[in-house]
Parts: sequence; structure tokens; C-alpha cells
Amino acid sequence: MDPASLADYDLVGFGSGVFAMAMHPRLRDFVARLPGVRSGRAFVFSANGLGRLQSRPFSRPLSRLLEDRGYEIVGTFACKGFDTWLPLRLVGGLNKGRPNAQDLDRARAFAAELRAKVEAG
Ligand SMILES: Cc1cc2nc3c(=O)[nH]c(=O)nc-3n(C[C@H](O)[C@H](O)[C@H](O)COP(=O)(O)O)c2cc1C
Repeated sequence: MDPASLADYDLVGFGSGVFAMAMHPRLRDFVARLPGVRSGRAFVFSANGLGRLQSRPFSRPLSRLLEDRGYEIVGTFACKGFDTWLPLRLVGGLNKGRPNAQDLDRARAFAAELRAKVEAG
């Protein structure tokens, strides 16, 4: 995919799991290399071991990188994900079954809200 083509979209989502307290390094590299846009809207999402309440420190650096590229961040979404970080793997992992149906309902509501926001201009 040509990263420059992202400029053609009204809204772009950037997301990954969280690893060692940060979004995936390939996603960070990808965003760091994006050409700037004159105006663009983006959202950031993740599944992580701690869930939405602690997700801001993980998503914030990526949001800043995107803002540096000219994107306005119009929303962030996070939910718990099955966490198999090595010490947790030894005890069968944390958050088995996540994201679950409720997480997906929240994701759908988030998407509908974003859509309304973008369509409102
Ligand atoms: C090596 C490793 C490190 C992780 N580090 C963190 C972390 O620092 N904070 C956190 O909240 N979750 C952490 N997690 C949990 C992942 O964010 C979670 O499993 C997520 O669902 C992985 O995304 P994926 O299912 O798209 O691969 C870690 C998981 C692994 C395997």
C-alpha cells in the first residue's frame, strides 16, 4: 500500500496491540514515515492488557506523531485483549476471551459516533 494514498481518505484508523508499554513498533515506524497531510482526520485504537482505563499513555505518543503529520485525532478506542506476555503465559494468559461481544458492541458504537462526527463535517 502506498502511504501517500491515505491522504485521499476522510478518516483513517491506526491501531495495534500494546507491547512493552507502546503501540507496535511497526505501526510507529509506519506513522513516522508518513508524508504530511494538509488536513486529515484520524483515530487511534488498541487492544491491550490493561484495557481502556489505562490506555492513554500508550496511545498518546502515536497520536502526537499523527498530529505532527497534520492529522486531527477525532477519537481513541481501547479495550482489553488476551495478554500472553511471557510471565502471564505461564499462568494461561490474562483477559482470556477478550475482546468479547461487549467490547465489539463498544467498538461499533465508537465507529458510529466517529462516522456521525465526520459526516457532520
Ligand atoms: C510481549 C508482550 C508485551 C506486552 N506488553 C503490554 C504492555 O506493556 N501493556 C499492556 O497493557 N499490554 C501488553 N501486552 C498485551 C497486548 O497488548 C495484548 O495481548 C494485545 O491484545 C495484543 O494485540 P494483538 O492481539 O493484536 O496481537 C503485551 C503482550 C505481549 C505478548
